[in-house]
Amino acid sequence: MEDRHTCWREWKEFFASRSKRPLPSAEPLRKYRNLPPSLAESLAIFQLGESGGGTVIEQARFSKLPQLDDDYADAMALFVREEHRHADILALCVSQLGGQLITQNWTAKLFVMARRLIGLRLKVLVLLAAEVVGICYYYLIARQLPVSPIRDWLEELVSDEQSHLDFHCDFLRTQTDRPWKRAVFVSAWRITMLLAAIVVMIDHRKAMRDLRIDRRTIWQRWMTYSRLAERLVTRPRAKLVRVG
Ligand SMILES: [Fe+2]
Ligand SMILES: [Fe+2]
Repeated sequence: MEDRHTCWREWKEFFASRSKRPLPSAEPLRKYRNLPPSLAESLAIFQLGESGGGTVIEQARFSKLPQLDDDYADAMALFVREEHRHADILALCVSQLGGQLITQNWTAKLFVMARRLIGLRLKVLVLLAAEVVGICYYYLIARQLPVSPIRDWLEELVSDEQSHLDFHCDFLRTQTDRPWKRAVFVSAWRITMLLAAIVVMIDHRKAMRDLRIDRRTIWQRWMTYSRLAERLVTRPRAKLVRVG
């Protein structure tokens, strides 16, 4: 049987090894001038979403759930710090694109409410949905951009989010060790993912339209990663396979 305590130590060391990465810096480039303002507006919403997350560290620290330890809480703290680094990178993207940061948005508010209302297990499930959304959305945006620092930064975020997906799946796997628990997870996961996808589709429709990101393409990608996450949680031997 897999030793969860070793697993959390490995996650802690993994996040710690990435925590020293400096923030990028860049000058505004002319090639950004032709990009639609809706791109900056869309990234500003994601920037807000990447900024929160403090309470989940406390919950992880004081959780009585099985198979968790201090290393898990430390890994969670480093994970949240990495998300805050994403917020800083997205803030840089927004300013490079000539946009404005925001302090309020209805989808970010929904996301925060969902995280606040519920316990650690459901909170991580909501975070997992955010990872799937981020992996797909950042990737599809990056693909539409000219070769540029912003494109490189978004690709780096995609790679980070893929690790986060793996981290949350490891946690959810420890909490679904019975068939009925896995059935509850699958139902909750499919509903959460569907709602998240619909909400993002509505809130970011302008940027998707302006960047010519086809709705069907993004939907299929979301569903592919959603099924992948489901398999990682419910089938212990499933491995994270990057979708090209
Ligand atoms: Fe992120
Ligand atoms: Fe993430």
